[in-house]
Amino acid sequence: MIFVHPDPNAPSIADWFGPVEPHIGPHVPEELIEYGELKSSYEIKANWKVVVENYIDVYHLSHLHSNTLQMYDHKAAKYHWEGPHYMFWEPPVEEFLENQESKLIAPRVIPEGANGAWVPMLFPGIGLAGSEDGWNIFIIEPLEPELTRVINRGRVSNSSGWEFTKQSMKSSNFWTKFGLSGKYESHDAMNDDDPMVAGDFTGEDVYACEQQQKSLKSPYFETGPVATGETPIVEHQKVVLEWLGRDK
Ligand SMILES: [Fe+2]
Repeated sequence: MIFVHPDPNAPSIADWFGPVEPHIGPHVPEELIEYGELKSSYEIKANWKVVVENYIDVYHLSHLHSNTLQMYDHKAAKYHWEGPHYMFWEPPVEEFLENQESKLIAPRVIPEGANGAWVPMLFPGIGLAGSEDGWNIFIIEPLEPELTRVINRGRVSNSSGWEFTKQSMKSSNFWTKFGLSGKYESHDAMNDDDPMVAGDFTGEDVYACEQQQKSLKSPYFETGPVATGETPIVEHQKVVLEWLGRDK
């Protein structure tokens, strides 16, 4: 990745990202290898800030992703800010943690003492998503006021194909029983590819972002009380206002 700053006297990138390093997670990306099949790109009909806010919102995890990300304990999530950057970690639930080596779908990439999902968002739009068996990058690219492109790339253990096959076979039994599925069960009014029944957390997020964007134009739109898990959204809006040179 190449970073370019339009100001010739820009501060160093090490200063920008430096304070983040101790909190960002245990992964060592340069020791992992990029896996082409994890690369994807898609567009979301929403402003880039809506996409960031969806990414950092802790509250939505238990609700929107109740059947797709339930292997992590959202109630035990820990998060804080390092300047404009958001840090996030949450542990695996007991069911996923117990004898975890037989449940990872790919070879382990972090020490057991550092188990969990490490999902920071570096301002303004670089999300990282690391787990016990992989490390992903989520680039948010504003295209238009109501259109954003997301580019995903992923790295995995530098192990042989046979190691991956073994791990995949070993873990398949657990995932069949654990049951990732859609938020709602399919019924006559919904197709199986409906984002609320398809069982794909990315599809759920895209749907939520687009609905959120649409709601801003509704005559019935209003803001209400903020849940504790939603406070990252308010903090993000303060960061954006600060960069716009506006009072918070
Ligand atoms: Fe989400």
